[in-house]
Amino acid sequence: MKTHRIALIPGDGIGTDVIDAAWSVLQRAAGLSGFALEGTTFPWSCAFYKETGRMMPADGIEILRGFDAILLGAVGWPAEVPDSVSLHGLLLPIRKAFVQYANIRPHRLLPGVEGPLKAEGFDILCIRENTEGEYSGAGGRVHQGTANEVAVETAIFTRAGVERILRFGFEQARARRGKLASVTKSNAQKHSMVFWDEITALLAADYPDVTVTSYHVDALAARMVMAPESLDVIVASNLFGDILTDLGAAIQGGLGFAASANINPDRSAPSMFEPVHGSAPDIAGKGIANPMATIWSGAMMLEHLGESQAAARVMQALSATTARGIGIRPGKDSTEAITAAILGEVNSKKG
Ligand code: NAD
Ligand code: IPM
Ligand code: MN
Repeated sequence: MKTHRIALIPGDGIGTDVIDAAWSVLQRAAGLSGFALEGTTFPWSCAFYKETGRMMPADGIEILRGFDAILLGAVGWPAEVPDSVSLHGLLLPIRKAFVQYANIRPHRLLPGVEGPLKAEGFDILCIRENTEGEYSGAGGRVHQGTANEVAVETAIFTRAGVERILRFGFEQARARRGKLASVTKSNAQKHSMVFWDEITALLAADYPDVTVTSYHVDALAARMVMAPESLDVIVASNLFGDILTDLGAAIQGGLGFAASANINPDRSAPSMFEPVHGSAPDIAGKGIANPMATIWSGAMMLEHLGESQAAARVMQALSATTARGIGIRPGKDSTEAITAAILGEVNSKKG
């Protein structure tokens, strides 16, 4: 039987709950579609850091390299380990080391979910640059603790990095409704963002079938709320994409629904699938985390692995569950009840 080897990293807080839920749904879908998912769980997390002084072993990246994909819950437990340590020790190095430069985040309402907007018919695909830009980690602090202290955070944008993410965005737009929104802040940031706009204009010539519009990120944020149905594919830098996709999560009903795929388009290393949300310390341990964002991310993983039938089965089960009013209001249904309902729907689909 065809077997895909998956590295599971539940991480912190609700990460464990949502990974358990997603794994049971994915296993069931795999079984029904006639292939196997073989999971190996890694306990890398803030608790692991407290025991070992590291978020993952020194050879963690090499360990992960042998897998077909990675499914991750959430990383971060700021009460005990600073986020700047935990995220730079686990999540961010994986994205970078495996050249997962395209972070794909879909924003649309599942049936029955009421978002905060009047608009209902939007279907946005946000493509976030995932390896450079404002997350380069370059910079430092001088005169620390004095009145003259200066902190510098350098955003690094390379031509190769900007070009590949924009091309990825153009290709996605071409395969969808042919509209690309390229997001910058070139009125204020006169180096990197003007550079990004220039490359967008250059590449547009290669994609005559795609209508590309450059937006400033502030205006685009307003558009996502006022006229989300006018948007198709959005392509943005690392930080702008991060912020816009929590906004996207909000308009699709909340972080419990927002899925994410960190893709290595060349397939030279594994891709990683995870919800947009974090470890949610405020609800951790209460059994009320919505697992749908992670299950949707899992469906994106199946699609990436070439298992389209199983991916569609999972997405149909999610939609059928929300259509029945289950899991659509934060905190109302338990993680367990939502998962059981989705499993029931997975089972009921033939084929
Ligand atoms: P968060 O996404 O964890 O939580 C924000 C709000 O959304 C909270 O009120 C939370 O209860 C709610 N929420 C999130 N996911 C939910 C779900 N599945 N179901 C129901 N409600 C949900 O953001 P935060 O509080 O800013 O971050 C907490 C920690 O997670 C920090 O350490 C942060 O750095 C980390 N973080 C990690 C990731 C990741 O691993 N990819 C992403 C974001 C934040
Ligand atoms: C996300 C998260 C991460 C990011 C954090 C936890 C570093 O917010 O995946 O959206 O900013 O990329
Ligand atoms: Mn984020």
